[in-house]
Amino acid sequence: MSTLSNKRIILGVTGGIAAYKSAEVVRRLQDQGAEVRVVMTPAASEFIRPLTMQALSGHPVHSDLLDSEAEAGMGHIELARWADLLLIAPASADFIANMVHGKADSLLGAIHLATPAKVAVAPAMNQAMWSHPASLANIDTLEQRGVTMIGPDEGIQACGDIGPGRMEQPDSIVSKVSSLFQNGLLAGKKVVITAGPTREALDPVRYISNHSSGKMGFALAAAAVEAGAEVCLISGPVAIVPPERCEVISIVSAQDMLDASLATAADADIFIAAAAVADYRASTIADQKIKKQGDSMTISLEKNPDIVSAVALANPNLFVLGFAAETQDVETYAREKLERKKLSAIIANDVSRTDVGFNADDNEVSWIDRSSSVVFSKRSKTQLARDIIEHLAKGHFH
Ligand code: C5P
Repeated sequence: MSTLSNKRIILGVTGGIAAYKSAEVVRRLQDQGAEVRVVMTPAASEFIRPLTMQALSGHPVHSDLLDSEAEAGMGHIELARWADLLLIAPASADFIANMVHGKADSLLGAIHLATPAKVAVAPAMNQAMWSHPASLANIDTLEQRGVTMIGPDEGIQACGDIGPGRMEQPDSIVSKVSSLFQNGLLAGKKVVITAGPTREALDPVRYISNHSSGKMGFALAAAAVEAGAEVCLISGPVAIVPPERCEVISIVSAQDMLDASLATAADADIFIAAAAVADYRASTIADQKIKKQGDSMTISLEKNPDIVSAVALANPNLFVLGFAAETQDVETYAREKLERKKLSAIIANDVSRTDVGFNADDNEVSWIDRSSSVVFSKRSKTQLARDIIEHLAKGHFH
């Protein structure tokens, strides 16, 4: 199985003799299904040619912070947001020190500061440099910030010394990277997720619906799969591809979504209602296409069932997470929905903004439950979904 399918990885290469092994790291990451973009520091180019990395990754190598042509394509902030993981291999002692101080004097340094993605570092340096208290303190600081250390290995070094400081072998780096995405936080749990819009037929050719893209619900499904859960995704009509390794139930109307939700939630641990359900449906669906009837027409509508409330009511022990898309007084309305719909928690989403929310690739939300409120600042929906799943799992299932 490709453990890194659909994962986007920036491989940062810094100056050191181990840089030649980073070519192999690109290959192994790709073998596991990852999409790789390479960013090199100027010192790295002294050890391995950017052209080699470009040919292997299939994309131009990024190296210059002040390159206007590159910025016109995928700029450094965009690149930082694109990634699911920033992997720095090899990471020199100097670059590690720069990370500790948050320096942004290189493209890689700027990406390190700007990315909401996970960061992993495979150090490579002489054994004396590695054992220096300054290096050890730097590693400690990065670990405390949540950076994953991969290696280093012990053994004979390029300079002839023997000891710790060699970069880990590419295979071992890639297997540790894979395990970062399989955190097992929800292993053995069943998660049901509703996503996308519903469509309410008026007649055989027309319907009422909304602009939901399904991206947030699909990203949550992918994150739950990554966390080891058995995932059932109940989706309305959308134009995006469902994540691998989850059961997909395609529905059209709110009533279909309700039936599928009640059936699948009965033995689930977590229910996440990310769908934008149509509030109303036609009181009667015409058998034949409705003909034009003068300058105006009236359609009689009736309220759709509230799916998430019905699921919460039927399953008192289920953890139920809802969404509140609001344009004003976001937190107040979200708290009101939390109570009224008997949810365990709610994600509040300001949809008055055009850069986040509906249809956008990014989102910025708050997690609200009865005892806390946590803001998740703007990031890709993929990353946000992982952060939400991690927050949910750590807060309620560990
Ligand atoms: O009431 P409102 O649509 O704002 O509530 C949003 C939350 O309720 C979302 O989690 C949405 O998926 C869920 N919902 C539902 N069934 C409905 C309406 C909303 O499950 N009919």
